[in-house]
Amino acid sequence: MDELGIFGRGIFFNSNYDTWKINRYLFSQAISTLGFNNEAIKRTNESFEELVGYWNSLSNSKLSSNDSNSNSSNNNWFEIDFLPWIKKFTSDIISVLATGEHAYSMASYYNKCNSIDSIENSCHDDPTLNYSDKFIQGIITLIKGMIIFQIFNPFLRHHLPLIKDKANNVLENRNFIFKTLDDIIKKRKLEIANNPQKLKSKHDLLTYLLTTNHEDKMSINDEVIRSILLDAFLAGFDTTSNLLCYIIYYICHNPHVKQKMFDEIDSVFPTDISYVTADILAKLKYCEAIIKETSRMMPVTAVSKRVAATKCEVAGYIWPAKTVFHLNYASIHMNEKHWENPNVYDPDRYYLKNDFNEVENDFDVESKKSIHNMDKYSLVIFGGGIRICPGKKFAMISMLSFMALMFRKYDIELVDMQAPLNTYTTFITMCLELKIKIKPRKS
Ligand code: HEM
Repeated sequence: MDELGIFGRGIFFNSNYDTWKINRYLFSQAISTLGFNNEAIKRTNESFEELVGYWNSLSNSKLSSNDSNSNSSNNNWFEIDFLPWIKKFTSDIISVLATGEHAYSMASYYNKCNSIDSIENSCHDDPTLNYSDKFIQGIITLIKGMIIFQIFNPFLRHHLPLIKDKANNVLENRNFIFKTLDDIIKKRKLEIANNPQKLKSKHDLLTYLLTTNHEDKMSINDEVIRSILLDAFLAGFDTTSNLLCYIIYYICHNPHVKQKMFDEIDSVFPTDISYVTADILAKLKYCEAIIKETSRMMPVTAVSKRVAATKCEVAGYIWPAKTVFHLNYASIHMNEKHWENPNVYDPDRYYLKNDFNEVENDFDVESKKSIHNMDKYSLVIFGGGIRICPGKKFAMISMLSFMALMFRKYDIELVDMQAPLNTYTTFITMCLELKIKIKPRKS
């Protein structure tokens, strides 16, 4: 796996304790500042407005095409292939929060869905658009391609024709990603040198890493910064986008949950405000329960691993050092010892028992306080211990913001209620398809 140049670096794939500790500390500090969290909310609001613009434009062009079979003529429902849109949406947000640079993935995807002639929005003319989208596509190819480096040994990768081509393709793609990130880092360094005042308003991860006065500053060279940025992309956008797909699938199959969610969202938005704020998010306790319950039923990370550092006792057995333990989160989430009727989708199992005032403004789904009398590790959405997901608060803010904006604006249904969830599991469980139809709830 070293051949990929990712392992032993950054955070996620790093098993060198000393460098992992510094990288994780810097990453966590950067993404837990108030400035970063407010920026995350602001960028989600902006990106959602952009998304609505594209959907409106596509739905209007369907209407005006006068096609009698048009989806949009069906009681104002508009059909959407949700999966690519949500991936582009989350990658645009991660890009701007990690690097301070726009990825324009949604704009690029809109161009593919629509003819270039009908483009009205000026950002579509940006010459960097295709290049930026290529970067996000490259990240997706890298995530998918990692499996080749995990299951085929170097001999097969270098000599077996089909496998060799695939491995080379992933490596070329990796080179492109590294170069793009290196260029962005160089450019930002120049900006900092030329105009340090201008950067005061920037809250992205890259600017933080370049300007922080950490005692280990010497060890944070450009390669380290690149690996931390890459982690934000690798761990950040596919996780939240898949979970949002699962949330939609489950609420559509449970209309009473959907209605209760609409009621909560309607009750927390002041009438004159159509964007989310930190205060609004802190009130969305039922939406938070939906995120927990969906993660219980369909965890994005179904399995994790730990290696015993020393000889240890687990479940009454003695295990030698270096034993690899596979932690089966998906199975823990269905264990009847911890969950009553585990096969029933029921966000109320958290909501009713919560004393939500205690965890006000917390978003800490692992908090023991948030689930009455519950074993802390019976719900393992973000892992646990010292390698617990450092992006969990940001992930919760992103998902709650999207839910609030999306479901305040649109009613939603699945195109095919009979279709089972189509998923594929590697490092994470990915949704492979989700066709939905939407209809405006409020103007
Ligand atoms: C729904 C969204 C997410 C889920 C379900 C999720 C889940 C997880 C899980 C289960 C782990 C492994 C923890 C363990 O082994 O105990 C992890 C690690 C990690 N996550 Fe997340 N994550 C999400 C979003 C994010 C976001 C948005 C970011 C960053 C922007 C992020 C960054 C990371 C990093 C860097 C690690 C590696 C931590 C380490 O090894 O020390 N995650 N995540």
